[in-house]
Amino acid sequence: MFNLKDYLDRTREWVEAEMDRRLPRADEWPEGLHAAMRYSLLGGGKRLRPILCAAAAEAVGGQREDATLPAVALECLHTYTLIHDDLPAMDNDDLRRGRPTSHKVFGEANAILAGDCLLTVAFELLAQSARPGPLALELARAAGSRGVAGGQYEDIASERAAPDAERVRRIHLHKTARLIEASCRLGAIAAGGDDFVEQLGRYGRSAGLAFQIVDDILNATSTPEQLGKAAGSDARRGKLTWVVVHGLDRAQRDAWALVDEAVAELHGLPGPVEPLAAIARYIVERHH
Ligand code: IPE
Ligand code: IPE
Ligand code: MG
Ligand code: MG
Repeated sequence: MFNLKDYLDRTREWVEAEMDRRLPRADEWPEGLHAAMRYSLLGGGKRLRPILCAAAAEAVGGQREDATLPAVALECLHTYTLIHDDLPAMDNDDLRRGRPTSHKVFGEANAILAGDCLLTVAFELLAQSARPGPLALELARAAGSRGVAGGQYEDIASERAAPDAERVRRIHLHKTARLIEASCRLGAIAAGGDDFVEQLGRYGRSAGLAFQIVDDILNATSTPEQLGKAAGSDARRGKLTWVVVHGLDRAQRDAWALVDEAVAELHGLPGPVEPLAAIARYIVERHH
């Protein structure tokens, strides 16, 4: 029988070893910058995006090794968004992945540069992959102004704005769901499953929206000890969240409905889909 915990542990260990191997060492010049990049990238995190990328590669009949470079690239890019998201000019958070945020440890300038470099490394890795063009195009579209960065722009612009269901949906689809969607698409592309890219993208988009709704629920209901990052901070900053717009009960129901939609996309794929189905459920059941 499929065991999700084993699958997550195994895949996390695999991607963490690959990240450690592929990132510049902290004793190579410029040591301080490399140390800051490694501090944020290698210091914890669920590794959801690389795990989804590997699972999508398997679901189209490939091996997780087909997706090694995009998996590492996704976590580098995700970590860059976290470092910049935590900066004083953005969410101004002191805690991330159970440790002080990058700018608290290395200073703001170095945190900005560490983020810049992790973003750059992501594309350097894709450039060395077997399908550099399609993979880089996909990640660039997901990360840029029409994707994650656009979502972050709207997230900041809407602080203290009136509740607006359409606006919060647009924010969440861009700042979070877009990269989770891309994680699945990259895995399919890397494993040569071009016919299944759209289908896996729809799975990722629904699962990704559920993921951010649950992030909003946890911010409102959990503790920093449990999350390894700030709690209650969305309300303090007047963030436009699913909980603010729809209330906790509806947020919980919407997240489950989206997971059902995600799982419904998993028919007719040539490889195993149990990991993707179980990860979708884990997204709503998680406690951090
Ligand atoms: C946090 O992402 C930012 C959001 C998009 C909600 P994760 O919850 O995946 O953070 P890590 O990588 O596990 O730290
Ligand atoms: C998540 O932003 C999206 C990105 C970081 C791109 P949030 O600000 O909602 O996430 P947390 O709660 O700080 O992890
Ligand atoms: Mg934010
Ligand atoms: Mg934040």
